[in-house]
Amino acid sequence: MEIIRSFLRMQEKTASIKNAGQTIGFVPTMGALHLGHLALLEQSKTENDFSVVSIFVNPTQFNNPEDLINYPRTIDSDLEKLETAGCDFVFLPSVDEMYPTEVVSEKWNFGFLEMVMEGKNRPGHFQGVATVVKRLFEAVPSHKAYFGMKDYQQLLIIKEMVKQLGLDIKIVPVSIVREADGLAMSSRNLRLSAKNRQIAPHIYQTIKQVVTLAKQLSVEELKQFVNEQINQKPPMVLEYFELADGADLQPVTNIVDHQSVMAFIVVDLGGVRLIDNISIF
Ligand code: PAF
Repeated sequence: MEIIRSFLRMQEKTASIKNAGQTIGFVPTMGALHLGHLALLEQSKTENDFSVVSIFVNPTQFNNPEDLINYPRTIDSDLEKLETAGCDFVFLPSVDEMYPTEVVSEKWNFGFLEMVMEGKNRPGHFQGVATVVKRLFEAVPSHKAYFGMKDYQQLLIIKEMVKQLGLDIKIVPVSIVREADGLAMSSRNLRLSAKNRQIAPHIYQTIKQVVTLAKQLSVEELKQFVNEQINQKPPMVLEYFELADGADLQPVTNIVDHQSVMAFIVVDLGGVRLIDNISIF
């Protein structure tokens, strides 16, 4: 496994692989790697000749400065995991390599996609994500790039960005990987206290029940159910629960009017923001 820190060197490496007629899969991450990230790498390895994983904690996508400071950084164990998993290249740029002039986001227009849920509750977040992913794609213009479905809205934003820029990179969604008790794997789980880690699976249990209840309850009743379920388990606090169209995130008022409906949830658990989603159909 080769570790590459320079933007130009990464570009040259990618170009030489492509010139030799071989394919590259790319997995952008912010580190603190878990089995969810390794599932992205695994899929990339099965579909490409070479796989690149980037690790870069992107300052412009954190609307809350404390969140950026507290974001777990576990570079030594990340590199060990990638080596064991058979990663070919790790792109490990500095902030200066990624933002050579100013650490600011570019201006993007993602319309409605950015006005709801994570876009609404974390102003500027997706502007920062799009900015850094565009730059990462310049460093690693791969054939395919892999993103987890836990960050479903991010996935749609990145697909839209690729469309707007006319990039020839296929965005591949990969299913959520869960702990044995159902908690969606996330780098943030590392920050849960032992006590909160025990109750955290309640989030997935609740949204799983929503899938069954959606056959008999109205959208308003489902929202009330989730609100009660989550808020009855302090210190859990529901930030939002939404039912939205899986294609464009338009809010769902009547489930039968849509071809695909997803349920999205964000819960604050002792200062740790946990995100999850499930397909209703
Ligand atoms: O999902 C993430 O880890 C980040 O948002 C990403 C896509 C690597 C951009 O910093």
